[in-house]
Amino acid sequence: MPPPRVTSVIVPFRLVTAPVCRVAALVGLVAALGGCGGGQASEPAPSHATHHHPEGDEPGGHHHGHGMPHRFEDAEAWAQEFDAPERDAWQMPDRVVEALALAPTAVVADLGAGTGYFSVRLARAVPEGRVLAIDVEASMVRYLADRAQREGLSNLLAVEATATDPGVREAVDLVLVVDTYHHIENRVVYFAALRERLAPGGRLAIVDFRLSSDRGPPAEHKIAPEVVGEELAQAGYRLVTQHDFLPDQYFLVFERAP
Ligand SMILES: C[S@@+](CC[C@H](N)C(=O)[O-])C[C@H]1O[C@@H](n2cnc3c(N)ncnc32)[C@H](O)[C@@H]1O
Repeated sequence: MPPPRVTSVIVPFRLVTAPVCRVAALVGLVAALGGCGGGQASEPAPSHATHHHPEGDEPGGHHHGHGMPHRFEDAEAWAQEFDAPERDAWQMPDRVVEALALAPTAVVADLGAGTGYFSVRLARAVPEGRVLAIDVEASMVRYLADRAQREGLSNLLAVEATATDPGVREAVDLVLVVDTYHHIENRVVYFAALRERLAPGGRLAIVDFRLSSDRGPPAEHKIAPEVVGEELAQAGYRLVTQHDFLPDQYFLVFERAP
């Protein structure tokens, strides 16, 4: 594992240099919240030539499996939604990070990091540790690397994952999965493998939309917290904490089962 470099993008088997930050040319962008990012499910997701809506066709996209395939190809467009200031009111990111009670030296994986809404906050919470901001979309990974540089976060590393491999090559103290659990395929196998990357005492935190929430993906793609618990029990975890302060999402924290 190479030392942290702000301009580096780590992919599972190679290291590439991120391009300089591109200027967003988002004429006509639908800035309203929508899709899985947390807007009202009935509102449109960001509209752009390279974006594929989850319910639309997914040419060259992910395969349908046990997870919910979805493309997030246009990071600049999705940033309008994921990093919308209005999101803070219901997402309560600072309170979520505070509740995780991270040591300043912690190594954290933000799995399905998107544009880094949580990653940047996590990076500030672990000034002597580091954050692996992991995403399966190359566009997101470039955006994350650019954002780390732009915000001077040398402990924030962008990692490109595949659908079956999160690309975690070191022991991590926490894996945080926000609004992404339902996108992951073959979850029992996936999280059983990820369990082996947890440091002693390491945790897995899942934040995702309640079935009753008007936000997030369509109801048929939401996963009940009980199902998350059952799947992760099969993958070798046990629930240790359940936070109830988020209005639209459940927030579950797991450890390795003995
Ligand atoms: C709804 S967004 C959530 C982004 C971020 N966690 C947030 O709260 O703003 C889901 C993200 O997960 C990514 N994703 C989907 N499947 C993934 C997988 N198997 N591994 C890593 N990232 C994945 C998508 O590309 C997308 O950026």
